Amino acid sequence: MGLRSNFAPFLSLLFLLASTTKGQSNGGVFDVTRYGAKPNTDITHALLNAWKGACASTSRSKVLIPKGVYLLSQSNLKGPCKSSIEIQVDGTLQAPPDPKGDGLVILEYIDKLTLSGTGVFDGQGKVGWEKNDCHKKKICTKLPMTLKFNFVTNSIVRDITSLDSKNFHINILGCKNLTFQHVTISAPEDSPNTDGIHISSSEQITILNTKISTGDDCVSVGDSNKQITIRDVTCGPGHGISIGSLGKYSKEKAVEGVWVTKCKLTSTTNGVRIKTWPDSAGEYSASDMHFEDIEMNNVSNPIIIDQEYCPWNQCNPKIPSSIKISKVSFKNIRGTSATPVAVKLVCSKKIPCEAVEVVDIDLKYNGNKGPIKSQCANVKPIISGKQNPRICA
Ligand SMILES: *[C@@H]1O[C@H](CO)[C@@H](O)[C@H](O)[C@H]1NC(C)=O
Ligand SMILES: *[C@@H]1O[C@H](CO)[C@@H](O)[C@H](O)[C@H]1NC(C)=O
Repeated sequence: MGLRSNFAPFLSLLFLLASTTKGQSNGGVFDVTRYGAKPNTDITHALLNAWKGACASTSRSKVLIPKGVYLLSQSNLKGPCKSSIEIQVDGTLQAPPDPKGDGLVILEYIDKLTLSGTGVFDGQGKVGWEKNDCHKKKICTKLPMTLKFNFVTNSIVRDITSLDSKNFHINILGCKNLTFQHVTISAPEDSPNTDGIHISSSEQITILNTKISTGDDCVSVGDSNKQITIRDVTCGPGHGISIGSLGKYSKEKAVEGVWVTKCKLTSTTNGVRIKTWPDSAGEYSASDMHFEDIEMNNVSNPIIIDQEYCPWNQCNPKIPSSIKISKVSFKNIRGTSATPVAVKLVCSKKIPCEAVEVVDIDLKYNGNKGPIKSQCANVKPIISGKQNPRICA
């Protein structure tokens, strides 16, 4: 703190110099309030104009949404921009209660973006959730996600909060080298389809030091992903940290390299999970997936590979999955299970799992539905260290 206050006069001098030379943009800062944004009004237009100004800047620039509550409708913030760019959100951005569009803030084709700030993206989900029936029906109302990152590269998201998303909180598509740090995601346990962070067709995605409580998967890693790192993430309530579900659609591609380490799950319906659909549309592999140093606290199904994932009877469960799972490890996973089957490794009858390693599992079941156990099919895991429960015995 002392250091910071010593630097303050120096920093404000710098700021003054910068603002006198840059005029309208005020030292590369494009504050939405200078584009007409006022608290408690819709600032969609102001944000878009501030974005356009910042994105056209040939030196590093920042869009600033200061403290205050603002209304926001779907905002497509598109690149490419002329230089690196930051969006600092310190205010609360409220989505319209009525579900419209496919995202509240859509960031696309941007390189070297920083999304930062202590602000909140408030999806106002309560109104939409009762309409969110796409997991049950073929014809359904699609609700907007809160933050969509499409084809964003070499970028950082830090400190922001996503609250009560109508659909997924954060969706990552076609991104490369994107890091999330110290992000907070929150929605009630019973809010449908509110995945925390969903990743697909991306590589080098890193999620660090992030707190997620929501109504669906905390993090879901879909198909066509490479080099995904999830570390120091807390999850709960929610459906756990999942790879999948894989194999539902025909154009999907391989998953390669997922590291989930030092995570803590509390009262979630699953812990760490790999799930694939039976009767898969495509044939591909999911490999090099590692789960290490995980704490489970009252978690149902703490460790699970489920190649017979078929909710809402949406598939033919008799046709085995053709997703090939290999090079998986579960290491140093401890804590409590809320169900007796603490370890479930159910692989495909057609393509058994290969090179599954299970090391140092120490789980306790405190309920009264029998002893703790594991359930295995079409897998011969390599086992060492502690085994509570006995694995595939
Ligand atoms: C990833 O992005 C960060 C943030 O822009 C950057 O500092 C880093 O150099 C990038 N890494 C690679 C391998 O490009
Ligand atoms: C355990 O988790 C379930 C949800 O799976 C929850 O309903 C229950 O309250 C939790 N129990 C404790 C003691 O936290």
